[in-house]
Amino acid sequence: MALWGGRFEGGVDAFTQEFGASLEVDKSMAQQDIRGSIAHATMLAEQGVISDADREAIVEGLRQIAQEIEDGTFAWDVNDEDVHMSVERVLTERIGAAGGRLHTGRSRNDQVATDIRLLAKDLCAELLEGNHELRRVLADVAEANLDVVMPGYTHLQHAQPVLFSHHMLAYFWMFTRDATRLRAACDAADANPLGAAALAGTTYPLNRARTTELLGFARTIPNSLDAVSDRDYLLDLEYACAVSMMHLSRLCEEVVLWSSSEFGFVTLSDSYSTGSSIMPQKKNPDFAELTRGKTGRVYGDLMALLTTCKSLPLAYNKDLQECKEGPLDAARTLGDCMAIMAGMLQTMRVNEGRMLAEAGTGFSAATDVADYLAKRGMPFREAHAVVGRLVLECERRGCGLEDLTLAELREASDLFDKDVVGTLDPAAIARARTTYGGTGNVAVEAQLAEARAALATA
Ligand code: ARG
Repeated sequence: MALWGGRFEGGVDAFTQEFGASLEVDKSMAQQDIRGSIAHATMLAEQGVISDADREAIVEGLRQIAQEIEDGTFAWDVNDEDVHMSVERVLTERIGAAGGRLHTGRSRNDQVATDIRLLAKDLCAELLEGNHELRRVLADVAEANLDVVMPGYTHLQHAQPVLFSHHMLAYFWMFTRDATRLRAACDAADANPLGAAALAGTTYPLNRARTTELLGFARTIPNSLDAVSDRDYLLDLEYACAVSMMHLSRLCEEVVLWSSSEFGFVTLSDSYSTGSSIMPQKKNPDFAELTRGKTGRVYGDLMALLTTCKSLPLAYNKDLQECKEGPLDAARTLGDCMAIMAGMLQTMRVNEGRMLAEAGTGFSAATDVADYLAKRGMPFREAHAVVGRLVLECERRGCGLEDLTLAELREASDLFDKDVVGTLDPAAIARARTTYGGTGNVAVEAQLAEARAALATA
């Protein structure tokens, strides 16, 4: 019989029961449910609402159930609508009347809100660990390839040479911002709804501050209606996941391009590649593509919850039962994808020679040649035009700027001298960009130190 058996004469049929249940997804927050119940029972006893003997029986029974769930020996019953009912039913079967007193001054509405908040905090903590590991790998790859020169792109066209380490560190800072977003989501979840009961609070002398303390929440939610109906913190978590997946998808796209024979900048390890069932030569960057693809799912999770919460009147509505799968899926997907990306980066080979060779093509020295003239007194706009004409001429001839003789350069401007060759070397071009945040080797070394310091603090 359901917990509300008193009011009912008939029951629902099996399919309707299954349709209304959340037991499957709730299993992911069973431990949080039990933590919440232990805190509630402890507080009830301290307030004299239940006896110490009842509290002891409840806490002992709940600990045993928690262990069985952990071990996979707990006998779940599909006839239970959700985890709250499963745990309470089994507890009461085992300890009798004391079990029936656990739910005093509590509703499943504040109970589920408590569970999800505890779960959201745990998910954020796990994701922050994965995020930290990925950032550590990015810093390591940058450090191991500090002086490797590659083409820098805008519009996916050669722009100016940059250091590969600088490119890796750009991702480091993106994921550092993601960590900030995850911490903000954790902070949003870090408030205690327990004691709000169904929607209006309760007549029992509950001490809400005490369960806040026992459960390690940072604060107590000041409005019972808001406490049971707020799921904003899950949106915050999903948004943080969505942005981080977007960052991963950008890195994946580059890995897919870089590992193609057209680029050849990196070679993925066999352990992060797959073959083809028909084409014997194939080595595909499947895991980068899959991560890129999973970004769509995580965006979907965010949109789904925004839509579920839209127009809901206060306070609890059963619609809110739909709010759990999405954040769990988003968090698991991001956690898995960060781990895959860390492994892929750590094991890939960086083809230094190929990157350097490409960095010298596509007229990527043109800006520096124009700067060369400008530094000798020519207005930059004029220098831009002079070099533009030289590029056009080279394109006609099918050669690079470095193939022009000094005499030919001097025809374009007599400011050109022998030392212009220095401005045509991609490594020198990158090295010269020493301003803070630039791609010069010295600037990147300083940036790496800043990245390491950021890793040490969070
Ligand atoms: N299974 C429900 C959920 O996940 C628990 C809260 C149910 N409350 C209610 N009044 N039906 O949201």
